[in-house]
Amino acid sequence: MDAAAISKKRDPGTDKMRRREIVNIIKGIQTSDGAGVNLTRIIGSPELDMLDPFLLLDEFGSDDPNDYMAGFPPHPHRGFETITYMLNGKFRHKDSAGNEGYLTDGSVQWMTAGRGVIHSEMPEQTEGLARGFQLWLNLPKKLKMIDPSYADIPAKDIPCIEFKGGKATIIAGTFQGVTGPGRPHTGMLYHDIHLDKDSKFELDIARGWNAFIYIYEGNVKLGKAIYKGQLAVLEQDGTLCLTAGHGGAQFILVAGEPLNEPVARGGPFVMNTRAEVMQAFEDYQNGVLDKS
Ligand code: FE2
Repeated sequence: MDAAAISKKRDPGTDKMRRREIVNIIKGIQTSDGAGVNLTRIIGSPELDMLDPFLLLDEFGSDDPNDYMAGFPPHPHRGFETITYMLNGKFRHKDSAGNEGYLTDGSVQWMTAGRGVIHSEMPEQTEGLARGFQLWLNLPKKLKMIDPSYADIPAKDIPCIEFKGGKATIIAGTFQGVTGPGRPHTGMLYHDIHLDKDSKFELDIARGWNAFIYIYEGNVKLGKAIYKGQLAVLEQDGTLCLTAGHGGAQFILVAGEPLNEPVARGGPFVMNTRAEVMQAFEDYQNGVLDKS
């Protein structure tokens, strides 16, 4: 079998595998954040406000340093986790909890903002190119005010599983019995999948989890074609089954257990109520987050 096949869900009463179909295809919008970093916002955009528990997905990628070198000077967060995956390029991180990190090609930064941090994320280029993703994973109400934590995960500590027709880099969750180093506070998986041309790929995803794929090179077919720069939101049940296009495909596959809680957003703070967001701004202004 030329696919990464895991146990397949079958419809009761039939022997047919149930395929996770596409619910929606999103393209994202060009925007700017931080001190003037040009990026594509795919989740957290007018087209797709959130996909519970995911609050935001940005792709940054440019071979022009002017698009990103201004970086993200010190700014606060509270109430969620940020997961930054660098395909290429380097990011230097500093935060108010005393953590310092240096992200390099293929590495991941996993920051749990919890009750609050102030951090800076300043890029450095690799041969002119910086490319990667930042994903915001919400924290449930009971964990929003936990202590902040931070992990720099170098590329060498992120397992890469080869299978016939491709390979999978396991950032979080389990793939073919191998668990990635990311430590989310809720159920989620995050894989970077590379497929050779025309290869098939199958993966069972926990029932009820929201899931998406975002194609960053090539294209895939899942009923219909999904192209580079498109995110496909998938159904909440069934097995992901797709085929790479003639030029192969590279995509991130992310899935998570929905929290089903109220979400109140205020810029860098994501809480359950408006009053909690206002409190976060007040705490930030009063220097409470400086002491995290
Ligand atoms: Fe940030």
